[in-house]
Amino acid sequence: MIEINDLRITFGALDVVKGVSFSVANGASFGIVGESGSGKSTILRALAGLNHHWHGEIKFGGMTLAAHRSRNFFRQVQMVFQDPYGSLHPRQTIDRILHEPLLIHRIDRAEQRITQALSEVGLPAAVRFRFPHQLSGGQRQRVAIARALIAEPEVLLLDEPTSALDVSVQAEILNLLSDLREERKLTYIMVSHNLAVVTHLCRQIGVMQQGKMVELLSSEDLRARRIQHPHTAELFDLSLTLEEPT
Ligand SMILES: Nc1ncnc2c1ncn2[C@@H]1O[C@H](COP(=O)(O)OP(=O)(O)OP(=O)(O)O)[C@@H](O)[C@H]1O
Ligand SMILES: [Mg+2]
Repeated sequence: MIEINDLRITFGALDVVKGVSFSVANGASFGIVGESGSGKSTILRALAGLNHHWHGEIKFGGMTLAAHRSRNFFRQVQMVFQDPYGSLHPRQTIDRILHEPLLIHRIDRAEQRITQALSEVGLPAAVRFRFPHQLSGGQRQRVAIARALIAEPEVLLLDEPTSALDVSVQAEILNLLSDLREERKLTYIMVSHNLAVVTHLCRQIGVMQQGKMVELLSSEDLRARRIQHPHTAELFDLSLTLEEPT
């Protein structure tokens, strides 16, 4: 479904992504972990078509993508960001927010689709005419997921979708994402700091350090600590420390 070959991205003199390659099969879920500043979000933004200044090759469904994407690409590949408050327009009702992708992609039966989208992400119908600030953080992220799914994409790009949420809410959102993926046969690429989050949702995991993908491993490898690279070990040990009860 997605294939990235030798992706390189620079900002001025700064090499941020230094020749990254990986591929994600249709219906699979791929996790990207790594230290802060290692280039995770930069890769996702290039994939999503939000940054046009990259080198290398990005293929989607077997086709090589140009820097500028078609409307159809933006329908098929949707992104969910870390901070649902920042990504939802504060002066628009949830109804308006969910209408937007339908207008952009000229999709009919808006009324029915919005009602269904809210119910699919577990939100009460009453939420529809509220504003983002009138919802909880978890509810806002559900709205962001509903917005991403309403145009029926094939791929979701998730950039730290749960890291702004309370731990108890994190699990709910991860379960929702996992159920939706199964129901709709979606392909996911998810960025996270948290190895537990990534192993929960992703079968294949790429570890980033300073712009390079230093290790590719499966979630089983990770759980069993079959780790090759010291940075992966570092992230693994750190995640254990963070999970210890206080
Ligand atoms: N638009 C930009 N202009 C200049 N530098 C940028 C830009 N976007 C990102 N960078 C730099 O690129 C590097 C990688 O950033 P990126 O956001 O991809 O990291 P990340 O792995 O997602 O980190 P985090 O885990 O903190 O979100 C950082 O050094 C960042 O400062
Ligand atoms: Mg990031």
